[in-house]
Amino acid sequence: MKLFEPLSLAPNLTLSNRVVMAPLTRDRADEGKIPTDLMVEYYRQRASFGLIITEATPVNEAGHGYPATPGIHTPEQIEGWKKVTAAVHEAGGKIFCQLWHCGRISHKSYQPDGKFPPAPSPIGARNVEIWKPDWSPVENVVKPRQMTTDEIDFTIEDYRKATRAAREAGFDGVEIHGANGYLINQFLAENSNKRKDEYGGSVENRARFLFEILDAVTTEWPERVALRLSPPGTFNDIDANKAEPLYQHVIEKLNEYDLCYLHLVEPRMFGNYDLSTYDLPLSSKTWRPIFKGTLISSGGHLAESANVLLNHAQADLIAFGRLAISNPDLPHRLQTDAPLTDYDRATFYGGDEKGYTDYPTMAQVEADPSLKKPYLHEREEEAPSAAEVVTLPEVAEEENLALEAEETEIKSAEVIIETSATPTIEVIDETKTH
Ligand SMILES: Cc1cc2nc3c(=O)[nH]c(=O)nc-3n(C[C@H](O)[C@H](O)[C@H](O)COP(=O)(O)O)c2cc1C
Repeated sequence: MKLFEPLSLAPNLTLSNRVVMAPLTRDRADEGKIPTDLMVEYYRQRASFGLIITEATPVNEAGHGYPATPGIHTPEQIEGWKKVTAAVHEAGGKIFCQLWHCGRISHKSYQPDGKFPPAPSPIGARNVEIWKPDWSPVENVVKPRQMTTDEIDFTIEDYRKATRAAREAGFDGVEIHGANGYLINQFLAENSNKRKDEYGGSVENRARFLFEILDAVTTEWPERVALRLSPPGTFNDIDANKAEPLYQHVIEKLNEYDLCYLHLVEPRMFGNYDLSTYDLPLSSKTWRPIFKGTLISSGGHLAESANVLLNHAQADLIAFGRLAISNPDLPHRLQTDAPLTDYDRATFYGGDEKGYTDYPTMAQVEADPSLKKPYLHEREEEAPSAAEVVTLPEVAEEENLALEAEETEIKSAEVIIETSATPTIEVIDETKTH
């Protein structure tokens, strides 16, 4: 099976198989946003994946937007990550750090200066759940403030510093999080970026922030930088309607960079794992002929879809998210056609070892059958299923424009957007995807 052939990502960086652990936010860092010993154990357990990509990790204080997410911008955090990378390396694995900035998907309670969170434009994300650091929900849409060009410059510099920190912490590389509606995606998308300067307007201008980050981080750490994008993604209130020309430009231009890989989030389908799932507009099929480097496909994969994509050369590596949570030995299970443990959504975010480090390996279940947890195929419905579809109310574009106009008048209060209740947009239940 191709899934178990090695792959070289860069000089002196060869993966032993093509099963990748997708980045997964688990909200279990300590109060200083420092990786804990439990996190060390969690990543160590998954070292048999050809590559681990860490949970999204903010590059600076302002980049945080969720409770208990680890950062990589203080010396203590770097020390914490050193323990993670050492454990993974000792167990024979490879690990990249996913570098993150939440942008408008945050709240002033995370901001070092207590101000509104920074974003390309003062446009709040609608129908998005945001929690304060103590897990209390933010009731209303948070209106961000527009970043100045100085702020853009030092945010880019923070990506560079975080890349240096990741290198110091012993990572094998960094993956820039350009997906799922966070800061870079907010600059890329037309509906969250209404800037009038060189970072807004045309496709080239909206992509400028991303490429300036890539210039900085690839200079800092040549040959060890990767990028994640979600061309079809609507998560966090991104409008993907005009995504094709945007990503055509972006992905073509990525060929000028010596990236380790481009990690693509596929369009989401419901329980259909044949090639047609990956034959949709904005899927890896669209981008494969354009991007000349290594491609990772992510989203809804099982062994069968993974092999189909690899055999069609539509991707070089396959990332697994939810199944990596519940199967620490996923590569072994895929290779031996062993049953897969189902995941427990209730323990995805926050908490302790339950649903985190207590999923058993197949070997542990064989030695002690009482450790067995429910298997995926024992679920009543297929996973993921149409039952997981939720609807979001549509909010008129004018409301955001009105918000924009209002911006200068608002000094301190959070902005409330009254949403209309017409359900139109369909997304599957990865509403908490990061
Ligand atoms: C609990 C959870 C946390 C996630 N956190 C991240 C993250 O930190 N960064 C990211 O790029 N994607 C994140 N995602 C998205 C996953 O990387 C992946 O794209 C998604 O789960 C679909 O893949 P799957 O069908 O194999 O689960 C998260 C998804 C889940 C379920």
